[in-house]
Amino acid sequence: MAGLKGRDLLSLADFSPTEVQELLQMASQLKSQQLRLRCNKVLGLLFSKASTRTRVSFTVAMYQLGGQVIDLNPNVTQVSRGEPVQDTARVLDRYLDILAIRTFAQQELEIFANYAQIPVINALTDLEHPCQVLADLMTVQECFGSCTGLTLTYVGDGNNVANSLLLGCALVGMNVRVATPNGFEPNAAILETARSIAGGKTEVLLTHDPEAGTKGAHVIYTDVWASMGQEEEANDRLPVFQPYQVNDRLLSLADPNAIVLHCLPAHRGEEITDEVMEGSQSQIWNQAENRMHIQKALLASLLGAEEI
Ligand code: CP
Ligand code: NVA
Repeated sequence: MAGLKGRDLLSLADFSPTEVQELLQMASQLKSQQLRLRCNKVLGLLFSKASTRTRVSFTVAMYQLGGQVIDLNPNVTQVSRGEPVQDTARVLDRYLDILAIRTFAQQELEIFANYAQIPVINALTDLEHPCQVLADLMTVQECFGSCTGLTLTYVGDGNNVANSLLLGCALVGMNVRVATPNGFEPNAAILETARSIAGGKTEVLLTHDPEAGTKGAHVIYTDVWASMGQEEEANDRLPVFQPYQVNDRLLSLADPNAIVLHCLPAHRGEEITDEVMEGSQSQIWNQAENRMHIQKALLASLLGAEEI
């Protein structure tokens, strides 16, 4: 997609509704092999947090496009010895064609993007996980034919995934409800942005009532109760989040054709039960697969890949 060439993806709000739709369509054509793209470029992965899906799906996507990948584990670079982000960014910019970063502070990602001319992709920060949510929207579109007019309910911690879901749903014309315990709401500025994108045409709702939030929803989504970097809070959070577990009882309140999504990794028995993860409404494995297809579309668009 010509309009995305050379751009960054730091927040899902960086993309317009049309750009998101075009990416979803491109990813679906790549998945069905109706479309074949090639770009002989080099992707760097600079991940300061653990990753299975994002690391492997980006790597395989880039290989399938004919490109190459360098895994820039901070521990084996000078990043871990305190080299300033501004300096690292300007140097990596001279070697790489595109850079995906997983880190804690969104601000660090923004500094990278300011100092590097090459496209910079948010591969998860404490604030957002846009690549995940693009794959989630692709999964919803596959299951229902279109996202427009459906309702997604996110139940659990108002974290990076919840923030990106607010933006993503607003961008594709879905109603979005986020049910969290008091004090664990999503980011207020992102909520405001999501409301402004939705423009009153779709619902953007925060609630503390998981049952009311789930009623009639088409997509039930959850994520861990303590994200990477919050491990010390995990035990204290358990009793607070217990009423927000996605289990058969909660799922029975959703639309009968509702699907269940989870970005993974899951803490089975905490935010989601085994029964729901393995149940007939779970689309979790397709969702994980779609990370690879949507990120291939994203890489191809940001790099300007050629059709073959
Ligand atoms: N969902 C997701 O981003 O998984 P990883 O942390 O394994 O990359
Ligand atoms: N909210 C989780 C998502 C992991 C993919 C975390 O940040 O750890």
